[in-house]
Amino acid sequence: MAIYLDHNATTPMRPQAIAAMVEAMRFVGNASSVHGFGRAARARVDRARRQVAGLIGGEAANVIFTSGGTEANNLALRGGGRARVLVSAIEHDSVLSPIDSAKRIPVDARGIVDLAALERLLAMSREPAIVAVMLANNETGVIQPVAEVVRIARAHGALVACDAVQAAGKIAVDMAALGVDYLSLSAHKLGGPQGVGALVLRDGAPLCAVQTGGGQERGRRGGTENVAGVVGFGVAAEIAGHELGAFARLAELRDRVQAALQGARVLGADAPRLPNTLNVAMPGVPAQTQIMALDLAGIAISAGSACSSGKVKFSPVLHAMGVAEADAGSALRISFGWNSTEQDATRMIAAWMDVYRRLASPSPRMRGEGRGEGELGVAQGGRAPLDAAPHPNPLPAGGEREQQAA
Ligand SMILES: Cc1ncc(COP(=O)(O)O)c(C=O)c1O
Repeated sequence: MAIYLDHNATTPMRPQAIAAMVEAMRFVGNASSVHGFGRAARARVDRARRQVAGLIGGEAANVIFTSGGTEANNLALRGGGRARVLVSAIEHDSVLSPIDSAKRIPVDARGIVDLAALERLLAMSREPAIVAVMLANNETGVIQPVAEVVRIARAHGALVACDAVQAAGKIAVDMAALGVDYLSLSAHKLGGPQGVGALVLRDGAPLCAVQTGGGQERGRRGGTENVAGVVGFGVAAEIAGHELGAFARLAELRDRVQAALQGARVLGADAPRLPNTLNVAMPGVPAQTQIMALDLAGIAISAGSACSSGKVKFSPVLHAMGVAEADAGSALRISFGWNSTEQDATRMIAAWMDVYRRLASPSPRMRGEGRGEGELGVAQGGRAPLDAAPHPNPLPAGGEREQQAA
């Protein structure tokens, strides 16, 4: 059976969340209707609100359900009402792209936001600002000093938005202790369904609705609530909160794989990291080639850099950390999840050793730099050559920028 080690892209749903969604879908009811059916739907949504708030130490009334982390980030930055926007250089695209004029806060070689640079950027103008710094990075897993960011931002009268999409459900998150004004969450990163997320506000944080309509979510996000989706989100959030201890133990699997990969350069290893995330560069072997070879071996992982038109492009995150192009181009992200096992780590190590032995040979063709005919297969006793077998999930041959699951 294939092994899934791409949990930062999306993680399997918790069976309890699936069961709760199926149950919720059996009922009719618009959460805005005043009759009994509507009130029952409202009760389900409000229960989910409490469960989500419970995971991050927020107030249920301040949870605004959205279509995911992307919308939550957009809502914070566009709805926060500040024209001056500062974002860390390692943010997800849904933070980097909404505001064209946003200034980038650099990070250091460990992948940690440069607090002195933040201070300098804030001091450059008296115009009220909003600062966006994520809690944990999706590519490296590096955890950011968000409470420090808030302390500096407050001294300059700035608001703080924190993308906690990758952190929530993986490490303890306490919104009050962090002190942020806005916190973004996504259900599918913590065992809930795709297409559901939330923006959680600090009490009294300003917000103008971006999506208007029927006045749902207390007028802060128009649109009929996705009752089954938020029910699944709520259940997954509650379970993830109870199982943070088990999740922390994924660091043992991560470290086993890390230790076994001799010759690999671990990116982000000098900083506090999520327990499940490993970003490693295997210089000399393009990430895309490794991913395809591992996919054929039944291991699903992703590139540490963004894929574009079938080529692995320099990751803005690794670029911001000053990682050399040769390393960045060969970087892989392995991310474990709530259902990962010892055996998964063992198979990952064995498969990678096998792939690396073959791909790290001196032949440029074997390194994926040409269309070698069968060399890889021959080396492995008749296994299908990489570019001869129809790939189950082929990378695009060209054209538009491919979107990498982040
Ligand atoms: C750090 C981070 N922020 C935001 C998002 C977007 O979340 P969603 O997929 O729910 O839109 C992702 C997911 O790829 C992410 O990794």
